Amino acid sequence: MRSVIDVPDLSLEELDQLMDTAEDIISHPDSYQDACRRKKLATLFFEPSTRTRLSFEAAMYELGGNVLSVTGANTSSAAKGESVADTAKTVSCYADIIAMRHPKEGAALVAANNATVPVINAGDGGHCHPTQTLADLLTIRREKGHFSGLTVGLCGDLKFGRTVHSLIHALCRYDNMHFVLISPEELKVPSYVKNDALKNKGIPYEQTTSLEEAIGSLDILYMTRVQRERFFNEEDYLRLRDSYILTPEKLRLARPDLCVMHPLPRVNEISVAVDKDPRACYFKQVLNGKYMRMALILMLLREAGTL
Ligand code: NCD
Repeated sequence: MRSVIDVPDLSLEELDQLMDTAEDIISHPDSYQDACRRKKLATLFFEPSTRTRLSFEAAMYELGGNVLSVTGANTSSAAKGESVADTAKTVSCYADIIAMRHPKEGAALVAANNATVPVINAGDGGHCHPTQTLADLLTIRREKGHFSGLTVGLCGDLKFGRTVHSLIHALCRYDNMHFVLISPEELKVPSYVKNDALKNKGIPYEQTTSLEEAIGSLDILYMTRVQRERFFNEEDYLRLRDSYILTPEKLRLARPDLCVMHPLPRVNEISVAVDKDPRACYFKQVLNGKYMRMALILMLLREAGTL
């Protein structure tokens, strides 16, 4: 049974196909309104979420399907001590496809190994978040028209920010990419991501602590929140949380065609005054995420023989 736990589970061709399907859904939504009739998506969210869970659910409704939902570890049998494996086996009896978010790295893989329906990882701890990357890719393709030769700045909590890890894994597969990794010393991209995706493939990247110095060279600036819930102590979080704040003043140093992205939720990293700037693309990402999740649900249900 095909599941999607991280971006490398999808080939470059499949990423392109998913973007093409999403574009087709955007142009012809009516042709998809019954595509998943009588099919059920279970959203199992054991960590907070607004966008990811609601966009999965909106995606399934727009495909004519139905949704079963667990929100919060305290309201399901996880609170009684049920394992992820048993939960996955159980939910497979009710639903045709599962989207799961869990605070533990690897939880989605355990679910996929035990479920009898496709599992989509909607975020596992500080590890990865492939469907946010799908939203990010469609946004980049719509804004820039291509992926080759882009200089991409990733800024903020690159250590715990799972969206960053998945996005690097996706973008490193396109030609002539160049990464600028902007973070405090303590929040650098983990070496397992750097080695797998960048060093071993000889992809050029720089590491810096200065957003001001880097911003002028970027085609894409991907801001992220400092991931409070993954810190071991609050003092470190308080010290690091406002390391980078994108303001209209800093944007004056940027190219006129910069694309400013953020997976959201935003805390302080982008001042609200930036929202009016035509370079702000983060709310477009939200909408693109719904279309990409529709495309992914369709792909996996077709492959599973459910549709
Ligand atoms: C991200 C996540 O959950 O990792 N949010 C999202 O899904 N759009 C980013 C974050 O929480 O900072």
